[in-house]
Amino acid sequence: MTERALAPSTPRAADGLVWIDGDIRPIDGATVPLEDRGFMFADGVYEVLRAYAGRLFATHDHLERLARSAAGIRLALPLTTPEIGEVVVELMEQTGLGDAEVYIQATRGAARRNHLFPDVPGRLVIWVRPPRAMNADLWAKGCKAITLVDERWARCDLKTVSLLPNVLAKQAAYDAGAYEAVLVRDGFVTEGSASNLFLVLNGELVTPVADNRILPGITRAHVLRLAERLEIPFVERNVCDDELPLAQELFFTSTSLEVLGVAELDGRALAAPGPVTTRLAEAFAGHARGN
Ligand SMILES: Cc1ncc(COP(=O)(O)O)c(C=O)c1O
Repeated sequence: MTERALAPSTPRAADGLVWIDGDIRPIDGATVPLEDRGFMFADGVYEVLRAYAGRLFATHDHLERLARSAAGIRLALPLTTPEIGEVVVELMEQTGLGDAEVYIQATRGAARRNHLFPDVPGRLVIWVRPPRAMNADLWAKGCKAITLVDERWARCDLKTVSLLPNVLAKQAAYDAGAYEAVLVRDGFVTEGSASNLFLVLNGELVTPVADNRILPGITRAHVLRLAERLEIPFVERNVCDDELPLAQELFFTSTSLEVLGVAELDGRALAAPGPVTTRLAEAFAGHARGN
């Protein structure tokens, strides 16, 4: 599996290593062929996981979702999910990283450009690298958000690399001085551009139902379980956009953000992080780190 293993703890290994179709190499300078369908058609699926102090969080959940996303676009993964898990562990060992970001992407392989599925093996890319540095102020003070029209396709439950509407929404939020967008489709709130959304309405935790309009976030699922454990009343249901101004608290969840409170939505100030957000953020932080 590891034909080009690098010695652990070399500086380059700690900067990140990538496994591409069986070879392991430094991320810096690693390439895939020009006609990879991920590049030509965004024809692929992906996952992002976190490791804390050398311990991977919710690997099984992420690999299960990867398999579901792949099946949803009729893509045969080149490895089984347990084999993918073994590669991730191997990369964790070889990088020697404790806190890490794991990225897994599977595409329909490289072939002469043609919309039809090619008769070639799929491509799998898996990397492990240090997580991005984030400004702790964001969590201490909460973020700004704006509502935007959700312009994505009808299968947002699949984690595909076709992220252009998400990219445009995130950039529009940034251009408006905000950190994240709250997407609204046909009068219903869906999620963030790269996160799920929760509201606190009259003491009840509310989050949009996990149907084809949102990604069923792994963090979202764990936060709901923690809410149950903490006896915070919660409901998964359709959320109308006109409920947003009534929320006492709002927060986003994702693998990278964990639980992030919203301090301002469309110019309206909110308590951030509010009491329910804080309880869940602390509970999730402990849970993800195995405390
Ligand atoms: C559109 C979207 N929704 C939700 C999420 C959160 O998912 P998870 O908690 O599994 O990271 C993400 C994560 O990237 C996302 O891109």
